[in-house]
Amino acid sequence: MFIEIADVLGKAELKLAQAVFRQEEGFQDGAQTAGRVARRVKKNEQAKAEGLAADFTALVEKRLVVHEVFRAAARPRGFIRVLLSRYRPGMAYGTHVDDAFMDGTRVDLSFTLFLSEPETYEGGELVIEEPGGERLVKLPAGSLVLYPSTTLHRVAEVTKGERRAAVGWVRSLVRGAEERETLFDLALALRQAETGGNEALINRLLKIQGSLLRRWGDD
Ligand code: NI
Repeated sequence: MFIEIADVLGKAELKLAQAVFRQEEGFQDGAQTAGRVARRVKKNEQAKAEGLAADFTALVEKRLVVHEVFRAAARPRGFIRVLLSRYRPGMAYGTHVDDAFMDGTRVDLSFTLFLSEPETYEGGELVIEEPGGERLVKLPAGSLVLYPSTTLHRVAEVTKGERRAAVGWVRSLVRGAEERETLFDLALALRQAETGGNEALINRLLKIQGSLLRRWGDD
């Protein structure tokens, strides 16, 4: 399941992000954190995980962990890594698949949180390969796309301006993408039942949710 979530960050937080990206000396070659194969196709720059950049990625995690839609879609057990990346003209990240494990932890979901407005740069779409073709994603600043880490994907070359983003990897309580999608649908159904105020239906759905989480969840 792919899901786009709007307005994860507000104006003040986006301003803070821009302050991080203004620190010229705070960035390094992104190839250092790529796997062996991905390294060959990765051409971007990443913020060193210190100072303002570390504060900002901690803030991103804090916002996401309490975000209702993100929680329902990802069932996060924890964030494995959140990085700030930038692509300037000529930079791109060729087709690759994210590592199955990072720092000894299984990687289930990947996300890109866009930090610059789409009209300020050209190219730079996140391109996700699907059986039916390619899906191109370029969202407003503060919005996020979440997708299974098992997909092949790339970042198209930036030809003008600067693409800024926070990218992250999540370990989920639920290993399988299909199971996560079922639980997401169930969460939506629960939401509707709550709006309708049908107590018996809410309890029945909560019972199903509990059973599925016990069956599909790992810790
Ligand atoms: Ni990737």
